[in-house]
Amino acid sequence: MTDGLDGVRDHYRATGVTERLKAALAVFGPEDQQLTPQQLGGVDQFHTRGFAATVELARLAGITADMSVLDVGSGIGGPARFLAATCGCQVVGVDLSEPFVDAARYLTERTGQGGQVSFQAGSALELRFDDGRFDAVLLQHVAMNIADRPRLYREIRRVLKPGGRFATFDVVLKRGEPHYPLPWARTPATSFLLTAAATRDAIELAGFRTLVWQDDTGAAKAWFAQMRASGPPPSPNLGVVMGPEFAQLAANLGQNLMDERIGILTAVFEAVSTKT
Ligand SMILES: C[S@@+](CC[C@H](N)C(=O)[O-])C[C@H]1O[C@@H](n2cnc3c(N)ncnc32)[C@H](O)[C@@H]1O
Repeated sequence: MTDGLDGVRDHYRATGVTERLKAALAVFGPEDQQLTPQQLGGVDQFHTRGFAATVELARLAGITADMSVLDVGSGIGGPARFLAATCGCQVVGVDLSEPFVDAARYLTERTGQGGQVSFQAGSALELRFDDGRFDAVLLQHVAMNIADRPRLYREIRRVLKPGGRFATFDVVLKRGEPHYPLPWARTPATSFLLTAAATRDAIELAGFRTLVWQDDTGAAKAWFAQMRASGPPPSPNLGVVMGPEFAQLAANLGQNLMDERIGILTAVFEAVSTKT
């Protein structure tokens, strides 16, 4: 098995994404006008159920203003900015895609949150932070791109303080292989889905105790049904980031959820000592 990182990097290469965002965001006003994280919601939340999912995850994980939070696979930074704005915490985002990190920094300048939110390019499998640096780690719609789950969850455990929270919101395998292309992978070569049970086993083995365990497939299906009924989302939307084919990729995700080939898992864990 390959680790697939080069393929994943290619999938999220998104050349020129910052320039496209600059052009698309002109609908909100001139470049020197500050934007709110809420205004960016159509374009910067790269997961099912958008803001609502991030709010719920933060509530379940008990994130508060005095916390230092790491967002692993932070995309163009929507969840990190929204979390900082709603919870008052400090957030660092890490993402494999350099164009995404560049876009995340640009958007954070536009929202004036540079003192609270920062981003760095890097791999979730090799986090460049000291042991025990964070109070909480978020992982939203990222694990499905990562083959080496034991290493991913060990790295997350390493950078968390003992008793710290790990909150994950991810796509899991249900009944059979999904149909591609999908928003995170055009082919199975860059998709590494696990079932919910296998995900939990891998996370607990890395030194975590389960606090919250929710199958959110029903909520995701309802969200996709509502999107289908309401027609294409207004611009700017994720098509600005991933290109015009994104609408089809998102529709395929919705169909795979409706067929229950895949599901959505929300879970929160507490960092405990690793098993020997
Ligand atoms: C579907 S997007 C989700 C982005 C963000 N969490 C959000 O919800 O808006 C998946 C992100 O994971 C990142 N990613 C995938 N594999 C990664 C890895 N090994 N290390 C760091 N980031 C990774 C991708 O570059 C992409 O930005």
